[in-house]
Amino acid sequence: MAFREYTIGTRMFGLAFGTSMFITLYMPAMDMRDVAVTDIGLHRQLSFGRVGGFSYEDPWLQGKAKPATVMIDKDPGTGSTIEATTAYVYPAGTPFPNGIRHPVILGEKPRLMSESLGKVGLADDTKGAVFIVREADDGGETIPYIENATATRGWMPEATMSVASEENTLYVGKGKIMFVREGCWWCHTLLPEQTQDWQYFGAPPMLGDFNGENPTAFGSDRKGPDLTHVGSRNSSREWMVMHFFNPRLVQPYSIMPRYDYLWGEKDINGNVIDYDAWREEYNQYVANERIYPPEVPIPAGDSEARALIDFVINLK
Ligand code: HEC
Repeated sequence: MAFREYTIGTRMFGLAFGTSMFITLYMPAMDMRDVAVTDIGLHRQLSFGRVGGFSYEDPWLQGKAKPATVMIDKDPGTGSTIEATTAYVYPAGTPFPNGIRHPVILGEKPRLMSESLGKVGLADDTKGAVFIVREADDGGETIPYIENATATRGWMPEATMSVASEENTLYVGKGKIMFVREGCWWCHTLLPEQTQDWQYFGAPPMLGDFNGENPTAFGSDRKGPDLTHVGSRNSSREWMVMHFFNPRLVQPYSIMPRYDYLWGEKDINGNVIDYDAWREEYNQYVANERIYPPEVPIPAGDSEARALIDFVINLK
């Protein structure tokens, strides 16, 4: 009987621990199973690709094996004019996002529609595929689902890329890798709260906006503004190009670091970027020795800067 208190104490601890784990881990899991994906959640995962963090496809976070987001107004199969459509192009060998690999996470109705109408089960990542987001009416309720346009319309990845013009191609998936790798989330959130945030940064997301995204990059700390809807308040590429090359060009006292190294060696015209010369001219500008700052080079199509800007502008 000498250790009776320990026995009771251990049981009480076990009960308290068990209950709290049930509430923290199990109860949210029961809810998650019932969450149906929204159309935003579908667009999000299709534009990002399988993962946006460390993975064996892309161990050094260079944005490899990612889909391209394109806007097309011509049918890649027949060449005839169609209504402007956003398509997600996965060339052969590009891993599919979680909603295609495990449709069960889309929630019941979007899963059923994606499988029956959308034929996502026929998609084969060794051959590549093109996906679009569609809506179906289910007794007055609108259900978003994924359509595998390669199976339903014969849209092949290469043909789709060739009907999309360069300015209608966004490297959003690669850009998200840059966002994660460069640690933008140390200073920016991607999650407005249910508070006055509404007035500044726009509406908070819904739970179903994230089914299939991995990882999310909500961030936890703000030294700069929330970026969830930044593309809606500022969609100027010129501004983004200047701001990422050197934030002080547009915000004189910005504490945001420069990301000029994401431009790489050459600009869009193939000219070698002379960073030293640029800096020298910039210093003259800061010292009031010239009126205009030096011109910022336009990033090349395959540069990391281009992908990052595509990702940011696509945050609507
Ligand atoms: C040290 C903190 C810090 C880091 C790291 C940082 N930022 Fe910023 N960012 C700021 C601050 C502060 C502002 C507001 C002042 C300004 O515009 O420069 C800002 C502004 C912005 C804006 C304009 C926001 C608006 O509302 O118009 C964008 C877009 C942006 N940052 C994107 C990024 C991206 C992408 C990265 C990662 C490559 C990044 N930032 C990294 C601090 C940071």
